[in-house]
Amino acid sequence: MRTEDYLLSLEREEDSLLFELREEAERERVPIIRRETESLLRTLTALKKPSKILEIGTAIGYSSIVMEKAAGGMSHIITVESYEKRVPEALKNIRRAGYSGRISLLFSDATEALKALLESGIHVPSIGAGFDLVFMDAAKGQYINWLPMILELMNDGGLLICDNVLQDLTVMESRFTVERRDRTIHERMREFLHEIKHTDRLESAVLPVGDGVSLSVKLK
Ligand SMILES: C[S@@+](CC[C@H](N)C(=O)[O-])C[C@H]1O[C@@H](n2cnc3c(N)ncnc32)[C@H](O)[C@@H]1O
Repeated sequence: MRTEDYLLSLEREEDSLLFELREEAERERVPIIRRETESLLRTLTALKKPSKILEIGTAIGYSSIVMEKAAGGMSHIITVESYEKRVPEALKNIRRAGYSGRISLLFSDATEALKALLESGIHVPSIGAGFDLVFMDAAKGQYINWLPMILELMNDGGLLICDNVLQDLTVMESRFTVERRDRTIHERMREFLHEIKHTDRLESAVLPVGDGVSLSVKLK
């Protein structure tokens, strides 16, 4: 599409490590954020200046590094990844970026990690010690299940950013036009979008950027 091509042409050069990691991800077919989504994530992180970030879906550490850089190296990020093969690669990349002391990787399924974070009692929103920014970028069918736990871990005024919410623009199609094997994810994503737009705990916007990004501010 012409608009997308033009907007991409405006992007500035990535730093050499991020450039290398994007090439590696493309070569190895590791799904990482699209460039237009990266640009939005960078801008929102710079605006928010979060002291604590939670990321669900590390892959090779690309978006963690992007957020830490955009936060001026002043944020503490907990990032969760369940695919064992990606963990050493992510840790290596985080080390190369110089952020080992800032980005902690939890090798765990996100449901278990969220439960553990809640049980740890460290991330207490009522005293402002919760997360200021959460970036959800993993199993799309689970977003609706993870949402209640994520809200419990976020400070009031915190920002929840979710990627891939329009699922290659299939989310607005009738369930009958979606392949049978994709119908559960399709239904769950529609349920998730309805929830973030209708709960009085969030103010949300859904943007057609990249594969669809939702932005939600926690009100209470
Ligand atoms: C789209 S990739 C993340 C890309 C990364 N945020 C970036 O842009 O650099 C999604 C990652 O989530 C991981 N994932 C999927 N389901 C998960 C789960 N239930 N718990 C933790 N990680 C999960 C996958 O293994 C994959 O590496």
